[in-house]
Amino acid sequence: LLICSIIQTQALSSVARQNSRLLHRSTAANSGAIFNHVDTPENNANTPFDFTKKNYERIEAIKANYPEGHKVAAVMPILDLAQRQHGWLPISAMNKVAELLDVPPMRVYEVATFYTMYNRNPIGKYHLQLCTTTPCMLCGSDGILEVIQKKLGIKVGETTKDGLFTLMEAECLGACVNAPMIQINDMYYEDLKPSDMEEILDDLTNGREPKPGPRSERFACEPLGGLTSLTEPPTGPGFGIRTDL
Ligand code: FES
Repeated sequence: LLICSIIQTQALSSVARQNSRLLHRSTAANSGAIFNHVDTPENNANTPFDFTKKNYERIEAIKANYPEGHKVAAVMPILDLAQRQHGWLPISAMNKVAELLDVPPMRVYEVATFYTMYNRNPIGKYHLQLCTTTPCMLCGSDGILEVIQKKLGIKVGETTKDGLFTLMEAECLGACVNAPMIQINDMYYEDLKPSDMEEILDDLTNGREPKPGPRSERFACEPLGGLTSLTEPPTGPGFGIRTDL
C-alpha cells in the first residue's frame, strides 16, 4: 500500500510538472497605446457619432469591394473612415461600424485594439509617430526623440497643451533604408537630423506644410553614396541567349 501511494504521489507530481511547463503568457504589449477601453466623459458609448452623408456613400463603395458573405472584411477601411471624420476613434464610432456591418461590437473592438493605427483616445492635430526600432535607433532616432521632447515639452504618450502634437514611439514603419524617420499623420519624413526635426516642428507650429520624404539629397531610397550596382546601360533583348538559338 505504501509503495502504491509513493508511486501515485510521484505520478501526480510528474503531471503537475508537465502542466506547469504548459503554462505560458503573452509578452507585455510594447506600445504607447493602452489596449483596454476605459470610459471617460469624452469617450463612452454615448459619445455622439454618426457618419456624414458623404461618408455613408463611401461606406457603400467600400463594401462593394467585398463579395457577399465577406462584407465584414470592410471593417478596417470603415474604421479608418470613422477616425478620419472624427479625428480619433471613440467607442461609439466602433459600435456604429459594428451596426453597419451587422456584427457583434466585439468583432470590431478586436480589430481596433490590435492595430496601433487606430487612435482610441483623443490625439493632437499632428500625430508624431517616431520609429525607434533598431535601424532607426542605430541611425540616431534617440537624438530626434530628444529634440521633440525638449521642443514640445512632452514625453512619449503625451499631447501638448494646445492640442497640436501627440508623441508616440512606433515600431518599424518600413522605411529603414531612410532611417531615422518619423510618420506625421499620413506623411513620412526620412533621413532626419535633429535640425530637420526642429524645422519640421517649426513649420507645423506655424501652419506651414513641411516637405515630406527624405531630408538628404536623395530622391527616394537609392544608395546615399551613388549607385553600387546596375551602373551600366541596360542590355538589349536577347542578352545572354546562345547565338545558335
Ligand atoms: S526601423 Fe525605423 S523604419 Fe524600419
